[in-house]
Parts: sequence; C-alpha cells; structure tokens
Amino acid sequence: MNILVINGPNLNFLGIREPEKYGKLTLEKINDKILKKARGYNYNIEFFQSNHEGDLVDKIQEVYGKVDYIVINPGALTHYSIAIRDALLSVQIKTIEVHLSNVYTREEFRHKSVISDIVIGKITGFGYYGYLMALDFIQNEENLM
Ligand code: DQA
Repeated sequence: MNILVINGPNLNFLGIREPEKYGKLTLEKINDKILKKARGYNYNIEFFQSNHEGDLVDKIQEVYGKVDYIVINPGALTHYSIAIRDALLSVQIKTIEVHLSNVYTREEFRHKSVISDIVIGKITGFGYYGYLMALDFIQNEENLM
C-alpha cells in the first residue's frame, strides 16, 4: 500500500503556530508518529509539505497511478483552492481530508471546503491523531474489501 501524506501552507510551522489550536508537536514529530503507525501496517508512506499551491498540484499529478491513497491537509487552501480540487479529480486517487482543528467551531469561512464532496471522508478536530485515524480507516477499508 502506497500512501502520500500532503500538508499545505503554514503546516511546516506546527509547534510554533497557534499551539492552542493546532497542538504543540512539530510536523516532523507528527510525521514520525504517522511513519511508526504506517510501518506497523506495512504501508509505504511519503510525506510532502509546501506553502505553494502549484507545488501541491505538481505533487498530486506526480503520484498519478503510483499511490493508493492521499491523506491531505491543505491548510487554508482547503477553503478556496479549485486547483487542488481539480488536481485530485484528475488523478482519481482515493483521498482523505484531515484538519487538526475542528473547522466547524471556528470562523465561518473555515466551514467551507472545496474538496469535501470529492474525498472519501473528512477528519477534523482530533489534532495530529486525525492523520493516524486516516491510516486506521485505510486498514479497515482494505480488510473489508
Ligand atoms: C487547518 C484548518 C485551516 O482552516 C487552516 O487554514 C490551516 C489548518 C487545520 O488543520 O485545522 O492552516 O487545515
């Protein structure tokens, strides 16, 4: 199983950035936890973070036909990036949307996601544990098939 974990703008600042909303762990530490869990499931995992919309689009296109799942936290781009939506639609890779904070308890503009209707499902508000939940879901989905 090959999985790409994508994080968008400002998520490289986890640990520094508004820890009361996003937690104290750095992205590196979170990725360590994801990697540990992925190893337990024997999954191949690749991590990608960028602050640039086009780089995220390039990455999604690059894995076309190569990965089984994308786990993505597009950061603020969640709320307006039609380019990311179109890239996900282009590659037709099963995708899980993750947000550290509960976007529904926050500003109105965060309630809207331009990808929610094209992903398998969305995990929001469970901190870094959301990424681990995404892997658990994948494990369960594969067992069910
Ligand atoms: C976020 C929520 C977004 O609204 C915000 O712009 C982020 C992080 C989250 O993980 O909770 O950058 O995606």
